[in-house]
Amino acid sequence: MNEAVAQAPGRVNLLGEHTDYNDGFVLPVAIAQQTRVAMRANGGEEFVLHAADLGQTAHFTFDAPPADHFASYVFGCLALVRERGAQVPPLDIEVSSEVPIGVGLSSSAALEVATLRCLRTLLGLALDDVEIAQLAQRAEIEYAHVRCGIMDQMASSLAATDRALLIDTRSLQRRDVPLPAGSAVLVLDSGVPRTLAGSGYNQRRAECEAAARQLGRASLRDVESLAELDVLPDVLRRRARHVFTENARVLAAATCSDAADFGRLMNASHASLRDDYEVSTPELDLLVKLLQEHPAVFGARLTGAGFGGACVALCRAHAQDEVAAAVLPRYAAAGHVGRQLVP
Ligand code: GLA
Repeated sequence: MNEAVAQAPGRVNLLGEHTDYNDGFVLPVAIAQQTRVAMRANGGEEFVLHAADLGQTAHFTFDAPPADHFASYVFGCLALVRERGAQVPPLDIEVSSEVPIGVGLSSSAALEVATLRCLRTLLGLALDDVEIAQLAQRAEIEYAHVRCGIMDQMASSLAATDRALLIDTRSLQRRDVPLPAGSAVLVLDSGVPRTLAGSGYNQRRAECEAAARQLGRASLRDVESLAELDVLPDVLRRRARHVFTENARVLAAATCSDAADFGRLMNASHASLRDDYEVSTPELDLLVKLLQEHPAVFGARLTGAGFGGACVALCRAHAQDEVAAAVLPRYAAAGHVGRQLVP
């Protein structure tokens, strides 16, 4: 058994936030930043995982799982591959990553997908890219204890950087969606840290499940009209309204060739995430507003789970750096340190 290496990208979601665990639609695009994983059998008794960027090393076995959080993603992938019947010998594993951590660009999915791709090569596993995404999601839920949907892992495993990927998270059917002509993606970090597991993410998920239950629907994907939501108590009604309107926005954007129309859908998504889903913060609202005010921006919104992290904007092609250079100082003047993440 030789050495295997693999990589997988982070992603930015253009539209379709908090819809994936409601069986809905999402529209992510891969980013250029990659996570790389290298592995080889070490002939020893234990796994040795070294994360260069974190300056951390974890030692573990299948009977003595790692305590470090970052190692739990890798451990989950190893354990799930073994559960499928593969022989997984003790390995030396090297991880390095360009994907910014904790800003909503799916550094954890990139790590899981790169790890599984590496195991596929090393052990000759018969796994297609959708199965990789499904195993990666299970690693995150069962071993890192975040009840995420499948968007991030599908995007890391299957999306490209030059076009968006429309995914039906119920059927996993997907279709490429070109960016509107003359537009390009800009991502800015708000500088507000975000911890997904500790945030309201699992609570939002539980609220959606409660709303679907009260409506007698298998999931909020199955809601057919806004009027149907009138029977729900206020908070659940607003959560469900976000999911319903967000799914409609994704489907509209997927057939939208005009950048200005696409941008308006992004702006409406942000308002819905702020007012109905309540996952924005004052800093994200400010950064989004500054982006939306710039003449070369078609639309902007928070991206990822929210509660901090990054904003995505659809800009006039080639204007991204100019927009960032105009917006970040205005954001700084309000006392916040943002930075450009993409491109
Ligand atoms: C996180 C989760 C995804 C998705 C988004 C919100 O990124 O991992 O599954 O739910 O939040 O859209």
